[in-house]
Amino acid sequence: MYTDPINVDLEARRCLRRILPGMESKLAGQIAADPQMWAIFKERLGLHLPALFRLYHHLYARRYDFFYHFENLLYSLADAAFSRSEVLRQLDQEREAQPDWFQSNQMVGGVCYVDLFADDLIGLKSKIPYFKELGLTYLHLMPLFKMPEGENDGGYAVSSFREVHAPLGSMQQLASLAHELREQGISLVLDLIINHTSDEHEWVQQAKTGDPDYREMYGIFPDRTGPDAYEKHLRDIFPDEHPGAFTWSEAMQSWIWTTFHSYQWDLNYANPMVFNKMAEEFLFLANQGIEIFRLDAVAFIWKQLDTGCENLPEAHMILQGFNALTRIAAPAVLFKSEAIVHPDDVVKYISPQECQLSYNPLLMALLWNTLATRDIGLLAQALSSRFKLPRGTAWVNYVRCHDDIGWTFADDDAARLNINGHDHRQFLNEFYRGRFPGSFARGLPFQENPNTGDCRISGTCASLAGLEKALNEEGPGEVDLAIKRIALIYNIAMTAGGIPLIYLGDEIGTLNDYSYLDHPDHKRDSRWVHRPQADWVKYARRHDSGSIEGRVFQNFKAIIALRKATPALAGGELDVIHTENPHVLCYSRSMGEQRVVIFANFAEAEQTIAPKVIQQNYLAQKQFLYGEGYMRDDGGLMLPPYSFSVLG
Ligand code: GLC
Ligand code: GLC
Repeated sequence: MYTDPINVDLEARRCLRRILPGMESKLAGQIAADPQMWAIFKERLGLHLPALFRLYHHLYARRYDFFYHFENLLYSLADAAFSRSEVLRQLDQEREAQPDWFQSNQMVGGVCYVDLFADDLIGLKSKIPYFKELGLTYLHLMPLFKMPEGENDGGYAVSSFREVHAPLGSMQQLASLAHELREQGISLVLDLIINHTSDEHEWVQQAKTGDPDYREMYGIFPDRTGPDAYEKHLRDIFPDEHPGAFTWSEAMQSWIWTTFHSYQWDLNYANPMVFNKMAEEFLFLANQGIEIFRLDAVAFIWKQLDTGCENLPEAHMILQGFNALTRIAAPAVLFKSEAIVHPDDVVKYISPQECQLSYNPLLMALLWNTLATRDIGLLAQALSSRFKLPRGTAWVNYVRCHDDIGWTFADDDAARLNINGHDHRQFLNEFYRGRFPGSFARGLPFQENPNTGDCRISGTCASLAGLEKALNEEGPGEVDLAIKRIALIYNIAMTAGGIPLIYLGDEIGTLNDYSYLDHPDHKRDSRWVHRPQADWVKYARRHDSGSIEGRVFQNFKAIIALRKATPALAGGELDVIHTENPHVLCYSRSMGEQRVVIFANFAEAEQTIAPKVIQQNYLAQKQFLYGEGYMRDDGGLMLPPYSFSVLG
């Protein structure tokens, strides 16, 4: 942790002593009406202000107006705390009393687009019985804020954080949905898109009028000098759209920092006004009942010349600052980081003081890797050396999401297994595009970069796992295998530890939808191939065990039931067991007295586990809690093709 030459704690206390009397007189009315909240607020300030002050001081003390902004921030926090509803205050207390609530084996997540799944927020509310049927306790709705018509990056271009995109509903409906979900035991998760706004956001409009405060909220450069200097070290994120990170704005007669699309203007966190305004926006949302924020594109939020402008220490300080102020104004709220970067960098965002939750992009990518290679080497290595997290934090384990698959394993890890990272990524791209001989996958390239040869993969879980090819070009045998592959990788996500997350649609085997090519705003972005409209005719077949949907769905229901009935699957600790069989991943999970051992066979052929491994793990007397297999007379274990078995 960073330390300053001055005694920051002393200064933080002094600062609070100076600000509080002013607050007490300015807020006298609110304090008189709600003395209990004021008391709680002051107590939380005492606990968390030093951390917030330290971070804010480090980021902004060089500015003459540091103290002005800091004082403003405290008023915003008080305002948010006073506006918090009784129900949410209660939730704050519950979560403070039980901070590890999200480590429970009852937790199961789902994610969907409001419009694609149920047209609008009212429609979504009517799907709550379905979410309950599936067993969800965590629901992530893809961006639903006001967004530009036409291209808007699936809502990741936000025009107002305080308005719901009109066709989806209203802020009031969102709050009511959050409430209803909570009553049903489901926490609502929304994106907090902190790196950029759309170019239609009011802040951009203000900047366009020339207001210097607002201009300073974005990265605006009069000529190429700044952009050229920065671009020496920047990676192209969306090279199909524009090379580099800047876009020329006619209106501004300037270059604008746009890491992603040209209409997504990066915010300038070197300006404390940006920090404060974003804090106000997300506390407003927290008070609508959002329990978890998925912090989008966190790696990019701080820029510094002569660096790659990703994963800089200041990016962490901003997130830690956001976290500290959340403890003060809305302590029930958790953060989940979306850092789809090198595994060394992914973990740096994860701590109780920063993001309590994180996507696990490495596990995701390596599940797909293992399906392609049938070799568990990289996966077992990652689970042994990169899976353990600090107390009070958890992975969100997923198989697919709305984005592409990037092969984010570390080249050094691969080299240790004699795998050349670069060549292996090329193989994986060929495999998942269906071009490698024998590939079962039907994926599409995303953001293929001719300069570097980089490419990522789009496609639904089922199409990547072989179901599309099997149904269209093969037969029942291959269909069986594809259904087993879907179950195998999802079952690992469900049992490895942390929160499993289902990309809704996967649970009924949804295939790629190529109609995005007819849509003018989508056709250039292959990620839309895996963002189809939910097909409720197909969903209706989920209980028919003769249908594809039913067969895929029954696997999901069964593994979720196992998860919820098995205390050993709570928490996040996992031990890898070496089976000496390169196709079989084996790990154990424990809680209290209970220990379960899990075998996942990634081969299309039956596999054996040697008697020695069975003895060393005292498995001879154990029951099959899930899946198939049998003990041979010689004491070895036989595992059917693509089987997933839990012994306990
Ligand atoms: C995140 C989102 C992705 C979006 C990008 C820019 O990575 O997951 O869909 O394109 O941020 O906001
Ligand atoms: C966002 C994009 C993803 C990309 C990543 C770059 O997550 O959606 O495609 O790989 O940013 O770090």
